[in-house]
Amino acid sequence: MACDLGVLVSGRGSNLEAILDSVQEGRLKDVRVSVVISSAAGVRALEIARKFGVETEVFDVGSLKQSRLEYDRLLIESLRKHGITSSTGLVVLAGFDRILTAEFVREFSGRLMNIHPALLPAFRGLHAQKQALDYGVKVSGCTVHFVVPEVDSGPIIVQKAVEVKEDDDEESLSDRILREEHQLLPKAIQLFVSGELRIDGRKVVVG
Ligand code: GRF
Repeated sequence: MACDLGVLVSGRGSNLEAILDSVQEGRLKDVRVSVVISSAAGVRALEIARKFGVETEVFDVGSLKQSRLEYDRLLIESLRKHGITSSTGLVVLAGFDRILTAEFVREFSGRLMNIHPALLPAFRGLHAQKQALDYGVKVSGCTVHFVVPEVDSGPIIVQKAVEVKEDDDEESLSDRILREEHQLLPKAIQLFVSGELRIDGRKVVVG
């Protein structure tokens, strides 16, 4: 039976598109993207979801005046409705720009992953590619990790290194990293769905 995926987005949606392409082309197996939830209305990620015939929900942060906890409870309810619970399915943060409450993270503990555009634990938080450039590293990359309440700090599932070139600016480095993100995130999802990931403390044992 296919694993139900809930993908949380906020904007451009290129990682969502990579997941949906991978499912459509049969590179990502036993997965059904059951819902795409956006924290903003009118974003490209929602168009992509609709193009692939995936149900969407919008919980617009700008117009909803809930507390963080109330907001996250709406998300939990919506995910449950689409078959994603504390014991089934997977939640993927693909460019979701909100920090989730500990309650949400606990609910989906071990079934909640995020993609970050740097080699964690370096350059957590926003503008990771710019942070890497400003620091002067020669190699950066991307990381898929399980989510814990502390931002960008959970057990690492997979990483991919990307060379930083002398003449890179934030845009060129971000583009090069993004191309790798589009391979890495479907790969991490496939490992999860195939039952090949085991969390052992800080570590993820693969295989
Ligand atoms: C990606 O760089 C991802 O690593 C970060 O947010 C960006 C989302 O891009 N968390 P997109 O919306 O998937 O195009």
